Amino acid sequence: MLQDIERILITEEELRAKVKEAALAIGKRYRESNPVVVGILKGSIIFYSDFIRHLDIPVTLDFMAVSSYGGGSVSSGKLRMKKDLDTDVRGRDVVIVEDIIDSGFTLANLKQLLGERGAKSVCIVTLLNKKGRRAYEIAPDYNCFDIENEFVVGYGLDYNEKYRNLPYLGVLKREIYEK
Ligand code: IMP
Ligand code: MG
Repeated sequence: MLQDIERILITEEELRAKVKEAALAIGKRYRESNPVVVGILKGSIIFYSDFIRHLDIPVTLDFMAVSSYGGGSVSSGKLRMKKDLDTDVRGRDVVIVEDIIDSGFTLANLKQLLGERGAKSVCIVTLLNKKGRRAYEIAPDYNCFDIENEFVVGYGLDYNEKYRNLPYLGVLKREIYEK
C-alpha cells in the first residue's frame, strides 16, 4: 500500500487533535438534546469512531450507506441508498458525520432527505472539505481540514475499497487512479 502514497497529508497526531476538538465543540452544542449521530458508510468509520469517543453527551448512533461514486475517482452524479437509518429522525437533532465533501452532491441530497423526514435540525460535520470542487450548494457546519483538489486515502477513505485502514491521510499517486 505504502508505495502507492505520494506523501502524507495529515498525520495521526494532527487527526487525533482536530477530531477531539470537533467532538468537544459539537458536544457543547447538543448537551441537552440526545442527537442522532449518523455516520455515512464506509468512508467515515474511523473518523466516526474517534469522534464519538470524545462526545461526552448522550447520543443515538446510526448509519447510512450511500454511493455517488461507481468505484473510480470521479462522482457519477447519482445517489444510491444502500443502507438506510434504523432510527426515526422526526423531531430529532441530527448530526451527520462524513469523511469528505467534494462536489457536495451526497450531503446536499442527504440533508434534504432528513429534512423531509422531519428532523428538527441537521448539522454536518466533515473531516475534509474540498472547497474548490463544490458543484452543489452545501456548507459543513463543522469542518476539520480544508484540502486542495487531490485524491486522498486512508483514515477510512478509499480508492476502489483499498487504503481505508491506513492510520493517516495520504495523497494517492496519480498514476494509480489515472491508469
Ligand atoms: P460528493 O458527493 O461529490 O461531495 O462526494 C463525497 C464522497 O466522494 C465522499 O464521501 C467520498 O466517498 C468520495 N470522495 C471524494 N473525494 C475523495 C477523495 O479524495 N478520496 C476518497 N474519496 C473521495
Ligand atoms: Mg468512497
